[in-house]
Amino acid sequence: MKFTDLDLENFYRVLAPRPTIIVTTISPEGEVNAAPFSFTMPVSVQPPLIAVASVPSHHTYHNIEKTREMVVNIPSEDILQKLWITGEKFPKGVNELEKAGLTQMPSVKVSPPWIKESIAYMECKIDRTLECGDHNLVIGEVLKVGVRENAIKEGLLDVELTKPILHLGGKNFVVGDHHRTVD
Ligand SMILES: Cc1cc2nc3c(=O)[nH]c(=O)nc-3n(C[C@H](O)[C@H](O)[C@H](O)COP(=O)(O)O)c2cc1C
Repeated sequence: MKFTDLDLENFYRVLAPRPTIIVTTISPEGEVNAAPFSFTMPVSVQPPLIAVASVPSHHTYHNIEKTREMVVNIPSEDILQKLWITGEKFPKGVNELEKAGLTQMPSVKVSPPWIKESIAYMECKIDRTLECGDHNLVIGEVLKVGVRENAIKEGLLDVELTKPILHLGGKNFVVGDHHRTVD
């Protein structure tokens, strides 16, 4: 078996496909923001902590720094094209959920809304942030998890039913064993 070197700047492309989330936040003025992220992972069970790495110039990060809350939404295949729209560059104050035609639902523990079309969502308060190269690491403490009815089967996510979206890179995604691209 022969191996070749990959450019270091593309190292993360072999750590794929990655679970993809939509993070919803709110500005101090009350403007809702949404954006997709695939640099994410659980980092602690007790307390329940989740990490997301964000470029510091993203509106998501600005909102997180100021309001210290976020909701992590888990999307399914049926909203892949809408997820892509939430990732487009809009001016500050534009609600990407409205642009994408996604439905915002009131959260219980935090101010940002959760997305009705999600498989599941986690309401989080920010535990800490950390500068990390060209991204900032955001650690959120999960305060509440909502899961769509029937999405969990015998304690595990029913992936055949929920069809979570995994990111390969750019416009390329994986759902089940299918490669999917967005327009
Ligand atoms: C599938 C996908 C995954 C992404 N993952 C990340 C990520 O992990 N970290 C990041 O900083 N940006 C990521 N982005 C880019 C942001 O979502 C994008 O720049 C977005 O416009 C930021 O929006 P905001 O300025 O409203 O926060 C991703 C984009 C897509 C489409």
